[in-house]
Amino acid sequence: MGTKGREIVGMDVEQLLKLLNMAFADEWLAYYQYWIGAKLVKGPMKEAVIAELLQHAADELRHADMVAARIIQLGGTPVAEPKKWYDLTSCGYEAPDDPFVEAIVDQNIKGERCAIGFYKKLLEATQGKDPVTYNMVVQILQDEVAHEEDLQSLSEDLAFMLKKSR
Ligand SMILES: [Fe+2]
Ligand SMILES: [Fe+2]
Repeated sequence: MGTKGREIVGMDVEQLLKLLNMAFADEWLAYYQYWIGAKLVKGPMKEAVIAELLQHAADELRHADMVAARIIQLGGTPVAEPKKWYDLTSCGYEAPDDPFVEAIVDQNIKGERCAIGFYKKLLEATQGKDPVTYNMVVQILQDEVAHEEDLQSLSEDLAFMLKKSR
């Protein structure tokens, strides 16, 4: 923990740490949802979908790393027990029970939309109070917005392809 770094935070640090641990749990679950989805996915445009899912998985893991570093800076502990991810998550986890490309892409679009909503709230909570967390959230939010668009664009291409083959 950095004493002065924590001191300059103009909000309840314990409350902030709670929100950051929620984000941390979400990032791990999002990472795994993408990673396992890339292993199981089946159907048209599979190779393009796998490449996108793996890219997103890597981004979510990087986000988990960024959030963990911020939690530690603030004197907190990133949740060390994976079982607790389920208690803390705000966006949840959806197992890719249906491996069809369309189903997996849709599940992950839903996850990205939830993440965008969560980080938007965290942005509002830290605005003018904690510039360091705020700046980190801006960076993560930029990625989540790009992720939603990547998947939506894949989903549109898939819809064209499926319409053509019918
Ligand atoms: Fe993320
Ligand atoms: Fe994402």
